[in-house]
Amino acid sequence: MNSPITGKKLYIQEVSVRDGFQIEPRFIPTEQKVELINALSRTGLAKIEVTSFTSPKAIPNLADAEAVMQQIDRIDGVLYAVLVPNVRGCERALACGVDEINLFMSASATHNLANLRMTQEQSLSQFEQVVRHIDGRVAINASLSTAFGCPFDGAVPDRVVFDLVQRYLDMGINAVSLCDTTGVANPAQVERVCAQVRERWPELVLTAHFHDTRAMGLANVLAALRAGIDRFDASLGGLGGCPFAPGASGNVCTEDMVHMLQAMGYDTGVNLDQLIEISRLLPEIVGHDVPSQVAKAGPYTRRYPVPESVRALSGANQ
Ligand code: COA
Ligand code: ZN
Repeated sequence: MNSPITGKKLYIQEVSVRDGFQIEPRFIPTEQKVELINALSRTGLAKIEVTSFTSPKAIPNLADAEAVMQQIDRIDGVLYAVLVPNVRGCERALACGVDEINLFMSASATHNLANLRMTQEQSLSQFEQVVRHIDGRVAINASLSTAFGCPFDGAVPDRVVFDLVQRYLDMGINAVSLCDTTGVANPAQVERVCAQVRERWPELVLTAHFHDTRAMGLANVLAALRAGIDRFDASLGGLGGCPFAPGASGNVCTEDMVHMLQAMGYDTGVNLDQLIEISRLLPEIVGHDVPSQVAKAGPYTRRYPVPESVRALSGANQ
């Protein structure tokens, strides 16, 4: 019997080279970043967040943003996005011809201060200036960090999220990512918040961005799916984390998420075998093991040769 979800199209957005590399203890050479992005570009991903145009003092690992953006091959059908904290970052990104600018701020006051050294109102003012500056030339997405809870301030009321989404729409931003920066969201909360955002603003392009810090990542993906979300950020190998959020760890792992969604019958557009192959290069690139489970175990379709001793038994029983 076919499942009702067979063939439903989902958009998989890769963030390992930004969210992942920003927190790595050692600098990944530009050439390796470029090679990795070029390989990822050919797997069928809808979007790749290539880097961030932040202060190199704040995020030294992405200090080569211009070089990376200029050296990668741009494949048709892949949207190349970058993360930008302010007008200065926007100017740098535009000079590199990016497809999308991903603005970011936090739903909680303290994480916004820790991460961006700005109040939330100052961040919103930067957003407004960026929107004016871009004047429709490239797409804009607004990422809302700590949307489901903050490592400093604790719970984030749902209405804070809704009010900020409304502020973005008022500015003319119609794409938003709800980000669980430190993996505190639970599936009931995710379904509730996402369903309400979908209901109130059905035209909004909505992305879910989960971290698997407390092993709720894939469960939250399912909860967001139930709420009608069809765009998911994920990170190859499960790398990731915000250096200014204590206790942050990796995003939902792209190959684990794609594997689950494909097994359920969704159309992710992504070649899982290629993704697994690329993910297996990661431990060497970053210099440590990565959380991915499917890259280690292989997909659920993997079959092992039957041991000789077992084969003999089945022969004897015939
Ligand atoms: N790109 C490059 N350099 C930038 C910059 C940008 N977008 N914005 C500011 N700078 C530089 C300034 O020129 C200044 O340099 P100087 O010290 O050599 O004069 C320095 O950074 C500080 O500038 P200032 O405007 O005082 O910023 P700040 O110290 O208050 O920091 C941010 C504000 C937003 C620039 C900084 O906090 C930041 O980049 N944060 C990024 C956080 C992040 O990416 N977190 C992970 C993602 S969740
Ligand atoms: Zn993140």
